[in-house]
Amino acid sequence: MAVLEICTYPDKVLLREAEPICTIDKEIVRLADDMAETMYNAPGIGLAANQVGAPRRLIVVDCSKRDLDSQLIVLVNPEIIAAEGLTSMEEGCLSVPDYQAEVTRYEKVKVRGLDLQGKAVELDADGLLAVVLQHEIDHLNGKLFIDHISRLKRELCKRRLLKRRAKETATDAPL
Ligand code: NI
Repeated sequence: MAVLEICTYPDKVLLREAEPICTIDKEIVRLADDMAETMYNAPGIGLAANQVGAPRRLIVVDCSKRDLDSQLIVLVNPEIIAAEGLTSMEEGCLSVPDYQAEVTRYEKVKVRGLDLQGKAVELDADGLLAVVLQHEIDHLNGKLFIDHISRLKRELCKRRLLKRRAKETATDAPL
């Protein structure tokens, strides 16, 4: 397992829809392992494949740090098939460093996908897990949590991230 580099806004791979996975081969299993390792290392509670530069529909989630009943969930081609209620939670994202904002999402969701053996799985989630699943599936659709906040806040956040990136690029430049 390896810790991968996490892409941050405005990397294009974060802003595009990820491709469905047709065959769960060794490469996909390896990617899932590396994504889990990367998520635990960050540390984070969820990660989508396009956050590590792989534009594929694959997510890993583990809320066990805050919710003891949770464990590692790996989902291939996940989709929300039912949703109800609304809830608001403060969210952050490894691809949007140093920024948190309150986001309103569905309170409960039913998510369908495949596990790494290619078996169909259906998950009923509420609370934190429901929020994280929606956040990660958003990533696969090229959407970030800041797309759910007010335009003014979003523009301020984006400007800050662009400035931060410009500074990083400047520091990386050879002397
Ligand atoms: Ni995120």
